[in-house]
Amino acid sequence: MAKSINICLVGQKFMGRTHSNAYMKVAKYFDLALQPVMHTLVARDQAELAEFARRWGWANTSTDWRAAFQNPEIGLIDIGTPNNVHAEMAIAALEAGKHVACEKPLANTLAGARQMRDAARKAKKSKTFVWYNYRRVPAVALAHQLVKEGRLGRIYHVRGYYLQDWAGPDVPLIWRFQKKIAGSGSHGDLNAHIIDMARFITGEEVAEVSGAIMETFVKERVIPSQGSTGGISGGAKGSAAKGRSDVDDAVLFLGRMTGGAVCSFEATRFATGYQNKNGVEVHGEKGAISFNFEDMNYLSWLDNTVPARLRGWTRVPTTGGDHPWAGAYWPPAHIIGYEHTFMNQAADMLNALGGRKPIVPLPDFEDAYQTQRILEAVSVSVRERCPVKVREVK
Ligand SMILES: NC(=O)c1ccc[n+]([C@@H]2O[C@H](COP(=O)([O-])OP(=O)(O)OC[C@H]3O[C@@H](n4cnc5c(N)ncnc54)[C@H](O)[C@@H]3O)[C@@H](O)[C@H]2O)c1
Repeated sequence: MAKSINICLVGQKFMGRTHSNAYMKVAKYFDLALQPVMHTLVARDQAELAEFARRWGWANTSTDWRAAFQNPEIGLIDIGTPNNVHAEMAIAALEAGKHVACEKPLANTLAGARQMRDAARKAKKSKTFVWYNYRRVPAVALAHQLVKEGRLGRIYHVRGYYLQDWAGPDVPLIWRFQKKIAGSGSHGDLNAHIIDMARFITGEEVAEVSGAIMETFVKERVIPSQGSTGGISGGAKGSAAKGRSDVDDAVLFLGRMTGGAVCSFEATRFATGYQNKNGVEVHGEKGAISFNFEDMNYLSWLDNTVPARLRGWTRVPTTGGDHPWAGAYWPPAHIIGYEHTFMNQAADMLNALGGRKPIVPLPDFEDAYQTQRILEAVSVSVRERCPVKVREVK
């Protein structure tokens, strides 16, 4: 009989659903080294918890995460809560000897992220994972493979963008607009993903950032009568009382990569007309790639080594059996969606815990700490209006 691992998930709203869906279905599609067992679900509202657990198939529920983490039956703790509690929960989980998967960004501060990295280094028997799930889009993994095979040659330009438009003035002051909980706005929420994607695809680090600007377009928002109803939707509106939104709504910056390329990143919650358009483009000496999540089943590829009269973009469908993870699902061209990125990551985590090598690298706390340093370097660059070398940000 295949070995299994008991999972404890914390959080039962937006990411609670994506992670539950992944654990519920992953063994149906993948031949796994370890079978996931949906053991315990933790969140704050007992009534909601019971209903969520029944719907998604969690065996037990708890409102006390500290007690749940001590349960010797649990092997993997998965943190799907807002950013301010990632560090406290992840460190407690590592100290209890568990493997840990945590949502991104790693923490709401660089200090918190560093403590998590240090705790992971200390807990030698525990593996850590961070849900940078866009790495698990087959087209993004293919881009990573093409660069690794040397098909782009020397890289000149890297361009990342993450464009959303949900945060107009009518959206109440949910946790995503509160610095003490979220750490930042579009920066840690959206730039974190495209920085991670750019690092993953190119295999290079952002060495220096400059020209960074941040803007908060809506500075006051109505205080909701209850917290988030999940994801980016607001809680019920309360009275007319307003509170200050102290996070960025948009952050743009320039930079230099370790291999000599120049890069630019743009994250915003105010790109009217774009709801979840994120992507990375890379231009190299021998070729170029372009990925846009709105068209996630395709990678655009240009081979610059063919004669000029044949040169042009190819829209490569990434749904064939020889594309990462795609063979686990449907015949070629029978497309997949957002939820599959979480299933792909769950499959790779369970295989890594079972001793197998993931198809492409999985981000751990060490890796996600590097992304957090770049986020911090950008914040310093905004504040001090000067270029910042990422290696000087500790
Ligand atoms: N990977 C992605 O694409 C992606 C997308 C959205 C959100 N996220 C990340 O996932 C995390 C959660 O975001 P979300 O959109 O699911 O938020 P959400 O508001 O929808 O849900 C948060 C959940 O955490 C629970 N929670 C909050 N504080 C808690 C505490 N102290 N103890 C126990 N439970 C607590 C809430 O009850 C709720 O169930 C964030 O770190 C966010 O940045 C990642």
